[in-house]
Formats: sequence, structure tokens, C-alpha cells
Amino acid sequence: MAAGRISTGVPGLDIMLNGGLIPGRVYLVKGSPGSGKTTLAMHFAMAGVANGENVMFITLEEPAENIREDFGKMGFDVYHENFMLIDATPTTEHYVLVEDFSESFAKNLNKLTESIKEQFRTRYYSRVVVDPITMLKLASKEELEYRKAFLGFVKTMMRLRTTVIITSELERTDIEEYLVSGIIEMKLFEHNGELKRAIKITKLRGSGFDNVIRPYDITERGMVVHPDKTAP
Ligand SMILES: Nc1ncnc2c1ncn2[C@@H]1O[C@H](COP(=O)(O)OP(=O)(O)O)[C@@H](O)[C@H]1O
Ligand SMILES: [Mg+2]
Repeated sequence: MAAGRISTGVPGLDIMLNGGLIPGRVYLVKGSPGSGKTTLAMHFAMAGVANGENVMFITLEEPAENIREDFGKMGFDVYHENFMLIDATPTTEHYVLVEDFSESFAKNLNKLTESIKEQFRTRYYSRVVVDPITMLKLASKEELEYRKAFLGFVKTMMRLRTTVIITSELERTDIEEYLVSGIIEMKLFEHNGELKRAIKITKLRGSGFDNVIRPYDITERGMVVHPDKTAP
């Protein structure tokens, strides 16, 4: 690992990032459903676990049970004691992080920020995943309140000195894009009648990065980025 960098868990992506993520910052992973955001987030989480770190993974769309089943099959150590998987999906009854999805997104985001802070009181987590943040945003109408809440989220995470990946399915993610330290975009497209995948970095504060769009695959062992190839 390059000095001062931490691994995303995807070696090809670390190369594109000139050595990995700068720790203690918040990053956004964008992409349409099925592009592989949760898979990338899982690689990031498990790279931390493999490194002896505590990792918090908050799932807002897929129930924790499904996450464990699908990614367990891929060979990820989803039952590791350092891997704290928090189910905050709308249907969950036993652990409700976000009580009422009909509330404003800002309120829910503030609640999420507070809950993460609360978890840090008993244990330090060097990596946090929020997957996907879209789930909270879809209901949001109050743009200004939301902006403040997102700023509060970023500031709190940075104060907690943790590295965070949030994912989003929205094409327009406006305020997040200004406030996060880096943006990774995952794209699905058709080429010669075949479904292809390509990844690009559009922002990385404090570092140079690979500005070429690179192909990636999702296999039964997870995600592989080809930093030496170009997308069609
Ligand atoms: N064993 C596998 N082999 C190939 N592709 C897979 C495998 N498991 C899942 N995938 C692909 O991974 C994608 C799901 O990735 P995921 O990380 O859940 O996407 P997102 O979170 O962006 O919706 C699906 O499109 C699926 O085709
Ligand atoms: Mg997902």
C-alpha cells in the first residue's frame, strides 16, 4: 500500500487512485442499480477487516440476511466479529436506525449521523459504509435542510477520523459531490450487444488519479478492475 493510503480492497481500483484512498475522508460511489456499488463497498469493508480494523456496514436497501448470503457465497468473511453489519432497511423491525422513512431526509440523515456517533462511543471503526444513501434521499423535499444535514454528516465522520464510503443511485447527487473528498462512478452499458462495465474517478481531493475510464468485471469472487485496459 502506498504511504498514507488505504486499500479499497480492489487492487486495480487502488492503482487508479494512485495508491488507494486517503484515510479519514468521505467518498461517494455512484452507479445505477446492478452496477456493483454494494460489491465495491463490501471489498472496502473486508479490506479493513483483513487488516484487523473494526468496520461498520449500514445497509439501507438489501436486508442484512441477503447481504450475508450473497457476499458470503463470494467468499467474504461476513460473520467476522470485526464486521458490524447494521440492518436499517425499511422493513427491519429488530434494529431500526431510521424509524420512519416518511420523515424528511434531513431528519433521517441527522438520525443516521447521530446513530453512527453513538456506535463510536463503545468502539472505534476505521471504516464506515452507508449503502445506499439514496434510500434516505428519495423522500426528501427540503433541499436546504438536506444540505445542512449532509454537511453535518461529513463533518462528524471527519471528526471521528474514519474513512467512509457512501453509495448513491441518483444521477444527480449535487451537494454530496461538492462535499465528499472523492467520487467513483460505475457504469453499465451495451457494446456490440453485450453488457459491459466501466469505472471512472471524477474527483479525488489531495491527489492525482487515473483519468481514463477502465473496464471492470464482477465475478463469483467479487469485483476486478483492469487498470491497464481501456473501456470500449
Ligand atoms: N457470481 C457472480 N458472477 C457474476 N456477476 C455477479 C455475481 N454475483 C453478482 N453479480 C453481479 O453483480 C451485480 C450486483 O452488484 P451490486 O454490488 O449488488 O450492485 P449495486 O449495489 O450497484 O446495485 C449484479 O448485476 C450481478 O449481475
Ligand atoms: Mg446495492
